[in-house]
Amino acid sequence: MSPLPERAAPRVEVHPDAHALATAIAGELLHRLSDAQAAGRTPHVVLTGGTIADAMHHELTRLAPASGVDLGEVELWFGDERFVGGEDADRNVGQVRRAFLDPAGVPARRVHAMPATEDASDVDAAAASYAQELAEHGPEEFDVVMFGVGPDGHIASLFPGFPQLAEETATVLGVRDAPKPPPERVTLTYPALRRARAVWFLVSGEGKAEAVATAHAPGTTKEQIPAVGLTGTEDTRWFLDRDAASRL
Ligand code: 6PG
Repeated sequence: MSPLPERAAPRVEVHPDAHALATAIAGELLHRLSDAQAAGRTPHVVLTGGTIADAMHHELTRLAPASGVDLGEVELWFGDERFVGGEDADRNVGQVRRAFLDPAGVPARRVHAMPATEDASDVDAAAASYAQELAEHGPEEFDVVMFGVGPDGHIASLFPGFPQLAEETATVLGVRDAPKPPPERVTLTYPALRRARAVWFLVSGEGKAEAVATAHAPGTTKEQIPAVGLTGTEDTRWFLDRDAASRL
């Protein structure tokens, strides 16, 4: 792999409410996808779960037809997944399927879902299998990596104080004791997530205001707020609503 290029300093963008936030992110994502396709690239995007992501996926479905983006030519990945049965309502991919992939008609071959319990013997085997998928079909650089942010500052399944934060080699790891249920998860690591043109944090609501403020305070480390450890090469952006921005 080539050395890491320059990084873009984080910027903050504040929208009036969660709905406006979801619309803005979906619009911006479609712009990025359209630009990448116009430049002759098949863009690769890392998706996230969570409430604001779900609202954004609904907006993507609504806005995609007029955007000119060919959704058959976009590769979709996941930043993390709960290691549960394939049909479990807890799976991020199920949420994305209902809000976006199915209604927007995204072809299944473009969707790189993480293994469910029936696909892998344990969470480490699931991580190894996704790492192989990423090595074989992943990009040198993702176009956009999106994250929901937990009230504790976690992103993907990288939790404050957890050993996965220190990983500098493996691209995907299993987590067995996540503080937020379900305990078993599969997550991309910093070495994988850093290879991104754009890194976007999607944050809505008063319950996130403190994590957002701490993330932007000088001296905060990624061990305290894992979101702090990530920037994109072209764009690092915190998409907030007013409530999430209220303590900045
Ligand atoms: C999980 C969560 C989490 C989620 C954030 C933001 O780890 O189990 O799903 O990763 O994305 O907590 O979620 P909200 O947008 O719902 O606040």
